[in-house]
Amino acid sequence: MEITTRHVKDAAAERCACLVLPVADSGKPGALTAAIDRASGGALTRRMRSEHFKGAVGKSLLLHEPQGLAAARVLLLGCGDPRKLDTTALRKALQHALGALQASGATDASFLLDDLATAGHGHEQLALQLALLAGASSYRYTHTLSRPEPAPRLGKVVFASTQKPSARTVRAAAEGQAIAAGANLARELGNLPANICTPGHLAAQARALAGRHPQLHCRVLDEKKMKELRMGALLSVTAGTREPAKLIVLEYRGGARRERPHVLVGKGITFDSGGISLKPGAAMDEMKFDMCGAASVLGTLEAIARLQPRLNVVGIVAACENLPSGTATRPGDVVKSMAGTTIEILNTDAEGRLILCDALHYAQRFQPASLIDIATLTGACVVALGKHASGLFANDEELAAQLLAAGEATHDRAWRMPLWEDYQEQLKSNFADVANVGGPAAGSVTAACFLARFTREQRWAHLDIAGTAWEQGAAKGATGRPVALLARYLLERAGSAKKPPAGARG
Ligand code: BES
Ligand code: MN
Ligand code: ZN
Repeated sequence: MEITTRHVKDAAAERCACLVLPVADSGKPGALTAAIDRASGGALTRRMRSEHFKGAVGKSLLLHEPQGLAAARVLLLGCGDPRKLDTTALRKALQHALGALQASGATDASFLLDDLATAGHGHEQLALQLALLAGASSYRYTHTLSRPEPAPRLGKVVFASTQKPSARTVRAAAEGQAIAAGANLARELGNLPANICTPGHLAAQARALAGRHPQLHCRVLDEKKMKELRMGALLSVTAGTREPAKLIVLEYRGGARRERPHVLVGKGITFDSGGISLKPGAAMDEMKFDMCGAASVLGTLEAIARLQPRLNVVGIVAACENLPSGTATRPGDVVKSMAGTTIEILNTDAEGRLILCDALHYAQRFQPASLIDIATLTGACVVALGKHASGLFANDEELAAQLLAAGEATHDRAWRMPLWEDYQEQLKSNFADVANVGGPAAGSVTAACFLARFTREQRWAHLDIAGTAWEQGAAKGATGRPVALLARYLLERAGSAKKPPAGARG
């Protein structure tokens, strides 16, 4: 999907397959829509009246070959009460428009949203949301379908304006396009079944990603190397499966050589059966999505590699399966993590924290400027926050604020949760330094507190995406979250970076 901005002097002369115009629920078209209506001899308002079109969010009217206009179609897009049009409503309206466009068969569309920009949303924000949603609308899962639906025809979306678009608006459209491409990669990896998307497949995809972008470098550590590194916690999770585990390291070098990287660590459980602490059967298929943290790391690096900001990023993916067998780890087993901490595995289904504690310890060798892990870690987080917000845990106030802001800016939102020492007592064990579960109370918090023990010296944050990474029900599928949050966070860091020292690469 190509998303561009265009300065349109005469909207009536805008030649495109479809011109999208916002309509408020007052029934009165905004200034620009009114001018276009006059150019068409009142065709737009006549049609709105005859169809009793009220301009509600989630509704639209499609006109073919409107007289007096160069556009082949006009889509009148309900936008409700402009004063109440928050980002949630804006996104709903835009999503509806993109669906109507895909159904209409239009190959390109010009969105002329100037009438909305005056109502609280700046052009920059409108362009970013349009680009993100247009990019998302081009994704279809087809990999294992014998007769997939025809590919979406809409290939070009223009953010048009009667004002000359500012540099920030142009950048927002480009960022949205790149982030959507990264999110679509994350969605595809998430949606692939676990018999295809194995740890080896994730490693191959990471290598392929590095092959597409010269600024990316990929290294994959096998189990032999993990044993040498004494990653006893990670290896205990993969003990029950025949599928070899992989630790993937993907480096983006856009900053000065010695500049500390921002490090992302993704949970890549390609299937989580629970292990010997076997999960109940209902909805167990959804545990193929237990690698969505890993997918978001790869997707974010895709977006970053496309946008080439001046900073260094390292993506680390701990990938393995969690299956029961005669070689699987038992409840009660004690293992030793790479950090030297012994862990009593009271529940083999609390495996995410086991692979992450070793990956997070390994990450410290990169001396991160910030360290962020992303994981579908706990069902308890879904209970606490549902599917709208990712759970954010952080041991650094500034980092927490930056991540929350990045989530707000992209509408890929997170909500802060506590990480108090008080919760640590729930993780006490009689047989090891720490237990891997903390009882039924505050499950997402004790999981985060477990990880916190391995990142004490770091500026660290943890995103629990168990509720946000995929949709259930009829629309079952990966969402690509939180690629937008992460990419935006990283892009902001490049903006705020101090000037690289003399002699640094640029
Ligand atoms: N991958 C799951 C968490 C999960 C469950 C995400 C359901 C989304 C939906 C994780 O590995 C897990 O099994 N967590 C356990 C932890 C418990 C044993 C302390 C959970 O949440 O039940
Ligand atoms: Mn589990
Ligand atoms: Zn899991």
